[in-house]
Amino acid sequence: MYNQLLRLPKAELHLHIEGTLTPERMMSLAERNGMPLRYTSVDDIYAAYEFTDLQSFLDVYFQGMQVLKTAQDFEDLAMDYFELAHSEGVVHIELHVDPQAHLARGIALETVIEGLNRARSRAQRELDLSSAMILAFLRDRPAEEAAELLESTIPYLEHFAAVGLDSAELGHPPSKFRQVFARAAELGLARVAHAGEEGPPAYIYEALDILDVERIDHGVRCMEDPALVERLRDERRVLTVCPLSNVRLKVVERMEDHPLPAMLDAGLMLTLNSDDPSYFGGGLLDNYLACHQAFGWDMVVFKKLARNALNAAFMSEARREALLARMDALSV
Ligand code: HPA
Ligand code: ZN
Repeated sequence: MYNQLLRLPKAELHLHIEGTLTPERMMSLAERNGMPLRYTSVDDIYAAYEFTDLQSFLDVYFQGMQVLKTAQDFEDLAMDYFELAHSEGVVHIELHVDPQAHLARGIALETVIEGLNRARSRAQRELDLSSAMILAFLRDRPAEEAAELLESTIPYLEHFAAVGLDSAELGHPPSKFRQVFARAAELGLARVAHAGEEGPPAYIYEALDILDVERIDHGVRCMEDPALVERLRDERRVLTVCPLSNVRLKVVERMEDHPLPAMLDAGLMLTLNSDDPSYFGGGLLDNYLACHQAFGWDMVVFKKLARNALNAAFMSEARREALLARMDALSV
């Protein structure tokens, strides 16, 4: 199974690039940038990765990314992950980027974009790994700040496929960002939003009806509302589910309790994703393997999920066709 899952051409539609920062890279960047780190060793860093909920993770996540200063840092960060993902059979990655978290630390938008773009070009050239960027708004910050970010991103718009919505969900419903998402649509950007990770089904409705999103990130709490499940199925809405993330952030107790099998039975358009692989104990292949272990899924299921991801990806039709053909050529 490992080899078959490894060979499957996998696309990852839900990944936070800042969540790919490994403890090793965190230590080396802290040293390179002459920054004191609250941790003294890689083990010390891993020991801090015991989360009780989304907020307890976000505190560590925003702290960790402070070592990122220069374009080179962002390039190294992304290249580390692209190489790992490539080694796991990942062929396309859509990365959420959190510029507000960097702007607040005095890092220019241009620095972030330049570094990430350098890594993306290298990945395309050296690894045949395509990618797209998603401009994420921090939903626990004011909507006006998101609007300002979007306007200041206009010179770099060609580098972004979509806008997204992440960070602390509860108390920050999608409707808070009605105007900025409407503006993003006007600028020709696609829309995605985290909804129904910790937030209620109502947030998923809002993301669909008010933000006009193409995909729902997470969305697992849709299972509490049968009418919503029916709608998501009928409209063939794609959900980017992150199983290891859901276990680590205690959205579910154990992998065996995850609603993924029920979601699959309900006919939902699911994709598997790693979210923040360095913090949640595994990349995309590990998420596939964890599902195999917990649910006993076979290659028929995994091919369907991987095909969903290719079909829903922000990529050229030529690339999509080539990757789908590569998948169809697999013997299983
Ligand atoms: N949920 C919400 N915001 C995030 C996450 C997540 O899992 N990871 C990084 N930002
Ligand atoms: Zn996420």
